[in-house]
Amino acid sequence: MSVLKDKHILLGVTGSIAAFKAADLASKLTQMDAQVDVILTPTAEKFITPLTFQSVTGRHAFTESDLWGGEAHVLHVGLGKSADILVIAPCTANTIAKLAHGEAGNLLTITALAAQCPLLVAPAMDGGMFDHPATQENLAKLKERGAYVAGPTEGHLASGLAGKGRLIEPAELIGHIRFVLGRRGRLAAKKVVVSAGGTQEPLDPVRVLTNKSSGKQGYALAQAALDAGANVTLITTPTSLTPPVGARVINVQTAKQMLDAVLKESADADALIMAAAVADFRPKQAAGNKMKKRDGIPQIELEETEDILEAVAALKSGKRRPRVMVGFAAESRNLLENANEKLKAKKLDFIAANDISSKDAGFGVETNRVTLLFETGKHESLPLMNKAEVADAIIERVAALLE
Ligand code: CTP
Repeated sequence: MSVLKDKHILLGVTGSIAAFKAADLASKLTQMDAQVDVILTPTAEKFITPLTFQSVTGRHAFTESDLWGGEAHVLHVGLGKSADILVIAPCTANTIAKLAHGEAGNLLTITALAAQCPLLVAPAMDGGMFDHPATQENLAKLKERGAYVAGPTEGHLASGLAGKGRLIEPAELIGHIRFVLGRRGRLAAKKVVVSAGGTQEPLDPVRVLTNKSSGKQGYALAQAALDAGANVTLITTPTSLTPPVGARVINVQTAKQMLDAVLKESADADALIMAAAVADFRPKQAAGNKMKKRDGIPQIELEETEDILEAVAALKSGKRRPRVMVGFAAESRNLLENANEKLKAKKLDFIAANDISSKDAGFGVETNRVTLLFETGKHESLPLMNKAEVADAIIERVAALLE
């Protein structure tokens, strides 16, 4: 289940040209099943209309006129009370200053003062304003009080200048919102290490031996663990994917580099999930220079790589070995038999057996059909799910084992 499902998000929009991006943010959050209530400041209304937000959220968008309506006396308290998070995006230097000083001159700032939920501020302003000591001091004050500040980024600004002040993009903002919402989850204060992608074993300076793993399942696991509040370390080979917001990313290429990173990170981890497709063989000797056609067909001698899960399992339990270890078995035949063998050999708590012979599961596709085999002998066949759902199911089992 998405971490955003049924979450009540209060989205404050202030007077910045980036207000148009807030409409996209509200739409994306609504599509992810969040309940989004928008509050526009009077200046925001000069840039964008409440109707825009009403159209994408299907809910009334609040403006200054609501502050003087019949329900006004409870509105700001009610909105702030039921919210899981107050997101102010874009947040101008003016509103940042007001928040820092506890001013309550409009519906949004009154609501911010009354709200007891976490506050996420996404600044947006033009050249020089963000770097101004006044803005920096105000932001420092907000952070000190526990506010989470996302962005801004560098780039083109509406004035034509380039600098720091651009609102971060809605997709990334959602990552920050998920991060804040997840903080108090079941895996809060737990460290989860996830490996992802297919390793690459060099043949020469330009060629590698690799596999078809996209990294999608591993990245989804990292996101699911973050949603549950974990401190996540993502050990990844090169992929086309963007790591989830909040994950500590360690980039590796080869099985050996992944082994070293996993061993190091496992020392203080609570859980290790090996979703990476690790090469079993590598060229014994990578050529120092690019192999040339004129030199004829190369004879490549392979050697075995070390099994990472087995290496971690061999560590003494307690301090250096994660309490929960999870593996994957991508199989094209004898799925359960092969997965069971791996479960035992690698001393796992459970293994996710994935039938890659079917078209809708495994490498590159969006869905997986997974059976979970537990060390206790229990089997759980999950229906066809997208990789985010598979990840949520696995993280839920990990959390249960850690509790
Ligand atoms: N794995 C690992 N180290 C390796 C190879 C695999 O830690 N050198 C992990 C994978 O990340 C996965 C699990 O072991 O979680 C099973 O990987 P898989 O490739 O299916 O199994 P292998 O043990 O390599 O066996 P085979 O390739 O012969 O099926």
